Amino acid sequence: MDIGTGLGEWACQMAQVGLQVTGYDHSSVAIKRARELHGPHGGTLRFELHDFDNDPAPRNLGTGNIDLVSCRHSIHFLDLQRFIVDVRRWLHPDGVLHVTTAVTEKIRREIGLPEERVRALAQGWREYDRYDLAPDGSITAVVLRGPWG
Ligand SMILES: C[S@@+](CC[C@H](N)C(=O)[O-])C[C@H]1O[C@@H](n2cnc3c(N)ncnc32)[C@H](O)[C@@H]1O
Repeated sequence: MDIGTGLGEWACQMAQVGLQVTGYDHSSVAIKRARELHGPHGGTLRFELHDFDNDPAPRNLGTGNIDLVSCRHSIHFLDLQRFIVDVRRWLHPDGVLHVTTAVTEKIRREIGLPEERVRALAQGWREYDRYDLAPDGSITAVVLRGPWG
């Protein structure tokens, strides 16, 4: 699952390495464009309209079925409390939540998460890893495995 997929570039990259991916976004404009841009992908890449704050959770996600949930520059838009509860339910016991985000103190703009909230993401997961995507740490990635601790 790619959450807040936008135009779907990251979802497309995941599909290209062999994952079966659904990209979700609450913008119908983004989903329409993502489908146009990344159309024929042999059924490994789909795009769905979904608002993770306001819509009921998609029924097909069930419990423990998903291997990987990815949020690239989208988690700061979401109701984090609700989202983390939902993700824990959807993920397989060995599943991964991968978050890429700007760190607001480092970029001095409100388009990411503050450092404190990045660190707090680690709570309750079996494994936590983190790597920076910019030398100054302004863009960081957090890897959380084992949603049920
Ligand atoms: C900054 S863009 C990132 C797009 C893409 N992940 C990327 O890295 O290029 C954030 C995306 O999150 C989507 N988004 C924001 N709130 C959302 C919500 N509640 N449910 C689903 N998508 C949401 C926006 O429509 C937007 O496409």
